Amino acid sequence: MRFHVLTLFPEMIEQGLSTSITGRAMQKGLVSLDAVNIRDYADNKHRKVDDYTYGGGAGMLMQAQPVYDACMSVQSRLDRPARVVYMTPQGSIFTQQKAQELAQEEDLIILCGHYEGIDERVLEEVVTDEISIGDYVLTGGELPAMVVIDTISRLIPGVLGNGVSADTDSFMNGLLEYPQYSRPEIWRGKQVPPILLSGDHAKVDRWRKEQSLARTRERRPDLYRKYMEEHPEAEGGAKGKKSR
Ligand code: ADE
Repeated sequence: MRFHVLTLFPEMIEQGLSTSITGRAMQKGLVSLDAVNIRDYADNKHRKVDDYTYGGGAGMLMQAQPVYDACMSVQSRLDRPARVVYMTPQGSIFTQQKAQELAQEEDLIILCGHYEGIDERVLEEVVTDEISIGDYVLTGGELPAMVVIDTISRLIPGVLGNGVSADTDSFMNGLLEYPQYSRPEIWRGKQVPPILLSGDHAKVDRWRKEQSLARTRERRPDLYRKYMEEHPEAEGGAKGKKSR
């Protein structure tokens, strides 16, 4: 996967993703990151890329021309046109399912707004997807872009390393993940659920499934309802089981 991020703060994106798993994925060549400074495409010597909004109102807007030129410059270097994702609180909410869909792409262009946003005309011209990471407003699209890149990267084969798979994650099957435990067996008087020490894999799997169902029912009734509609045979799996 090759990520191309159009931003006024390329160093924020580079620094934010250069450590830990995303950093290693880049070193291994499984993911590449090309942070493009929109300011490099300003058509004036002051490198100014924002201006007042027509109709009045507080704040400055990113202008169409530098955003368009930055985007076209990236597209012209690719074999075929890439999807352009604009990070905005007005987009559709980012989900694991959307991440799985985008993980199939070879190149993704991610556009980050700042100030009060971007001139609508360039959005109409270049953007294919508008994504929000939640119903709250950040100062810019950089953190949301990093959220999207991190989520997609860990779905790319090899990124999580050594047989670790994203398949059992929360949301991958429409349910929250079951609770997990490591050593010691007793910590502050709390015992690891004995079934996990039984060595009976079928029983462990069943217990985990029940815990997933119970947790989802308690914490995310919206997800639970949807899951039950799609898997009516699972009814009863979560009955009477408290996950906490
Ligand atoms: N830019 C500002 N707030 C945002 C949000 N919630 N999601 C995506 N991009 C944003």
